[in-house]
Amino acid sequence: MNMQATRSFYIAPSILSADFTRLGEEVDAVIAAGADLIHFDVMDNHYVPNLSFGPMICEALTRKGVSVPLDVHLMVEPVDELISQFIKAGATYISFHPEASRHIDRSLELIRQGGCKAGLVLNPATPLSLIEPVLHKLDMLLLMSVNPGFGGQPFLPYVLDKVRQARLLIDEKRLPTRLEVDGGIKVDNIRAIADAGADTFVMGSAIFGTPDYGKTFAAIRKALGAGG
Ligand code: DX5
Ligand code: ZN
Repeated sequence: MNMQATRSFYIAPSILSADFTRLGEEVDAVIAAGADLIHFDVMDNHYVPNLSFGPMICEALTRKGVSVPLDVHLMVEPVDELISQFIKAGATYISFHPEASRHIDRSLELIRQGGCKAGLVLNPATPLSLIEPVLHKLDMLLLMSVNPGFGGQPFLPYVLDKVRQARLLIDEKRLPTRLEVDGGIKVDNIRAIADAGADTFVMGSAIFGTPDYGKTFAAIRKALGAGG
């Protein structure tokens, strides 16, 4: 019998790829289909060359009573003011890019003191060593498998090595940190990303825009196999 405990896997649809004219219905539909979190891509057209949505939309979803955690991914610079606004708007997780904060530890403390779970996001070319000193403070480590700014980009396979390193580090230190991968994840590559050690998967274009979210989630869970 395989004694290794099967890691549970969590799917976080990114609403960046949703139909914004029906955002509430889209969120309800993916949750009904099995979404574990809702991934909320905040872009400021400064840190990344794109502009998406802000705390007001997060607050609208919170007010609507979204039943799963809101996984806010800040692609903004600076970060601290928006951290405070997303705490008020009802975020569950708030993750930011370390390059976008002058004082990484202080920004992490701001999130935790606001009662939210704190995360850091590493771009494909950013090494794990940048965040190692504060890994023990992270509820979530998010590894980008595309360059941030857009949905629908192809997965960058070289990031798998970083996923493996991160999994080893988290397990070695016996940390409860969630290991999330974000960008270009599809039914046909998710198993390899899980095998590398990820437990949480952001999926935008692989989910939104498909004809039947129930069938899409069934295919994702099947591809993940045990723990899926
Ligand atoms: C990109 C965002 C990702 C993106 C994922 O900057 O952080 O979350 O929306 O979309 P897909 O799954 O289509 O790559
Ligand atoms: Zn994201």
